[in-house]
Amino acid sequence: MDLVHRPRRLRQTPALRRLTRETRLHPAELIAPLFVEAGRGIHTPLASMPGQFRFSVDTVVEEGKRLERLGVGGVILFGIPARKDARGASGWDPDGPVPQALAALKAACPGLVSMADVCLCEYTDHGHCGILHATARGATDVDNDATLPLLAQEAVCYARAGADVVAPSAMMDGQVAAIRAGLDAAGFRDTPILAYSAKSASAFYGPFRDAAGSTPGKGDRKGYQMDPANPREAVREALLDVEEGADAVMVKPAGPNLDWIRDIAEAVDVPVAAYQVSGEYASLHAAAERGWIDLDRAAYETLLGIRRAGATWILTYFAAHAAEAITSGRWDRV
Ligand code: PBG
Repeated sequence: MDLVHRPRRLRQTPALRRLTRETRLHPAELIAPLFVEAGRGIHTPLASMPGQFRFSVDTVVEEGKRLERLGVGGVILFGIPARKDARGASGWDPDGPVPQALAALKAACPGLVSMADVCLCEYTDHGHCGILHATARGATDVDNDATLPLLAQEAVCYARAGADVVAPSAMMDGQVAAIRAGLDAAGFRDTPILAYSAKSASAFYGPFRDAAGSTPGKGDRKGYQMDPANPREAVREALLDVEEGADAVMVKPAGPNLDWIRDIAEAVDVPVAAYQVSGEYASLHAAAERGWIDLDRAAYETLLGIRRAGATWILTYFAAHAAEAITSGRWDRV
């Protein structure tokens, strides 16, 4: 038969497919999340996140050098403090693991953008992302406005330690404006803010909370994290953050919210980041361990989908894996 249209003509060989490919991933746009705690020589595997570790300041520098050699764009640090309290005061302790690691990475890995997650949940004994006040609705309500200065203080602490970017993830209203004002007042006008703008109350954070020990003791995060059913609200959150001074905005989790990424990318003119979170990573690993999916191909496909949706920065635990697959040409030959 004389078919005029044969799209398969361009699919015949790996070389033709490579030439025809509309979307490409690059290590420079990947950001690796890293967990740091106090101590030395720590390289503890995380049970629910195969291939991921808890580091100390000395070992995180080695990991930073490895990621830098692989061409990965940046890292985002999460702290596991020695002490937790009701206010999360370890979050702005200059001797804490995150500020120490930021300073060490700045000196050892100048080619890597170092980011610091700004939130209280890793540092509070109750595990919520802000401080609590007792109200008629129960003791687990987070006091939005009382939390803002604490987040600003934490952001200033990280900027002072050498963070290239601070990334507030507490989902408090006005957190970007408060942090911008705090940074400016402390002389850090040039420290950019990557806002976790559209972060949903997700089932996919489970492995992270195990790793960081940040599962809320009582209640859940639905009073501050977004309802995953609300795409219009996601755009509103991103627009508000840009108005408050965000230099880049983020959607999280990435995979379940690809429409949010697309809608936000169309609505704002700053870089859009997406976070492929711990549960997305762990699910792919779990299925692969059972022999049900091919991990490498599944990682490629999920990252491609996030990129196609419109994210230019991708936070992913596959960052090192992906950078290796991209630079070796393996993901070109698919
Ligand atoms: C802190 C924070 C969380 C994640 C990133 N920043 C946990 C949460 O909101 O419970 C989750 C990241 C992941 O699951 O990989 N608020």
